[in-house]
Amino acid sequence: MTAALASENLASADAAIHLGNVSKVFGKEGADGSYRAVDRLNLDVARGQMLAILGKTGCGKSTIFNMIAGLTEPTSGTVRVSGKNPFSDFDAFRGKMAIVFQSDRLLPWRTAIQNVQLGLEMLDAPPADRKDTARQWLIKLGLGGHEDDFPHALSGGMRQRVSIARAFATNADILLCDEPFSALDESTAGKLRAEFVRLVKENGKTAVFITHSISEALEIGDRIVVLKRPAMIAYDVSFNTDTSAEERTLIRGRIGEVLAA
Ligand SMILES: Nc1ncnc2c1ncn2[C@@H]1O[C@H](COP(=O)(O)OP(=O)(O)OP(=O)(O)O)[C@@H](O)[C@H]1O
Ligand SMILES: [Mg+2]
Repeated sequence: MTAALASENLASADAAIHLGNVSKVFGKEGADGSYRAVDRLNLDVARGQMLAILGKTGCGKSTIFNMIAGLTEPTSGTVRVSGKNPFSDFDAFRGKMAIVFQSDRLLPWRTAIQNVQLGLEMLDAPPADRKDTARQWLIKLGLGGHEDDFPHALSGGMRQRVSIARAFATNADILLCDEPFSALDESTAGKLRAEFVRLVKENGKTAVFITHSISEALEIGDRIVVLKRPAMIAYDVSFNTDTSAEERTLIRGRIGEVLAA
């Protein structure tokens, strides 16, 4: 094995999420009407990383998201989450991966606390523990006193907070979020973003966060990957608390250029 290959394997074995030479073709390859939504994508997400994936509509973000979540299979290439295939080992991921969708996807016939308990029920947690855990997460997200409210009685921001509580309550190591705050007003979204970053960091999670918004990507990510149609990486940048305001401004400008190109 070459040194380069050995180091690549080392990186992927240790990565929380690994996409190796992944392509996704909708329809029969080569046939009329087939579409290559992802083209030979290589992407490793380290444990504890918060990756923001940014790209214009239709560039393949949700397709990548669905492959990581094990909802779709790649046409070719390798997808691994914690070293396992999320599509064929779907059951092994119960409780290991939590998803926050663009819409809150709460069950309207269940109260806030019953919605948060849902993931814990699927994990067969003892009933008393489920209720306690769900209550604690609702309180952490500022929803103490609303445990028994039904979704229709909550505002959009409150419902989205219930869905975040539901994702965190399962204590999954990996969080996948597909534009979870895009339907909210900017000030509510800003507060939830800050809360989300704090929770992910405090609990040592790995997160993949999909967004259309450059500002949101800069707030959420410690790494940003910008995709261009068909889901190829056009820019990949990492930063941390030491990154200066000037550098951030340069990064913002570069992302704008890449998206406009
Ligand atoms: N099931 C499917 N069958 C055929 N084509 C599909 C399917 N799903 C996605 N596509 C195509 O693949 C491309 C990427 O779609 P995808 O939903 O991944 O984009 P996206 O980046 O998530 O866009 P948005 O920002 O609008 O959510 C689009 O051209 C879309 O039409
Ligand atoms: Mg999408």
